[in-house]
Amino acid sequence: MVEIIPSILSADFARLAEEIAAVERGGASMLHLDVMDGHFVPNLTMGPPVVESIRRATRLRLDVHLMIENPERYVEAFVGAGADAVSIHYEACRHLETTLDKIRKAGALAGVVLNPSTPVAALEDAIVMADYVLLMSVNPGFGGQKLIPYALEKVRKLDTLRKEKHLALPIEIDGGVNRENLAEVVRAGCDWIVTGSAVFHSPSAEVAVREFREIAAGATAVRC
Ligand code: DX5
Ligand code: ZN
Repeated sequence: MVEIIPSILSADFARLAEEIAAVERGGASMLHLDVMDGHFVPNLTMGPPVVESIRRATRLRLDVHLMIENPERYVEAFVGAGADAVSIHYEACRHLETTLDKIRKAGALAGVVLNPSTPVAALEDAIVMADYVLLMSVNPGFGGQKLIPYALEKVRKLDTLRKEKHLALPIEIDGGVNRENLAEVVRAGCDWIVTGSAVFHSPSAEVAVREFREIAAGATAVRC
């Protein structure tokens, strides 16, 4: 089933609990939390204490996207703070398998993220180590950017690769997904769809999530 996963990066942090409750009412079952360190990406966001507070405020599954250098140092702290899924960038990992194992041993799903310019072929062997793969459809660091069209071609390639390997792992996409391109994103083969500004900068985050879920369900029916 296709999941719409709101990214709180574009939420109003002063009203975060309300914003989270709204997307939950809209039918979201997962929340995307963007962790940035000012090194891997030119922006700063949150650390484990914020994840822990969010964990206490909601029952939604927490999908933590680490845009940080040396992720192996921090993955256990994020799982300990309540993450259900933790993804690490291929570009930031010297020992990908070891770090993915650390996440899994700590008790969360372990995901690999590829930047737009990293080819899907980089995962040809490593794909078996991951519980899910996140393809960036913008250069990471900021919400509200435009989806890079060739990202959808990468989704199709990754879909082919997972079928060849007989893997059922979800493909996640992150960046620039909106009402206009959502159906195409689903048809390309995405299962977990992150969306930030299109949900939280709309008049009602609850209504936006509900509508996005309907669009995604319609496009999934076409895909199958
Ligand atoms: C960008 C983040 C995204 C961001 C997406 O680096 O990883 O999760 O919140 O925001 P939109 O949907 O506005 O592109
Ligand atoms: Zn993200």
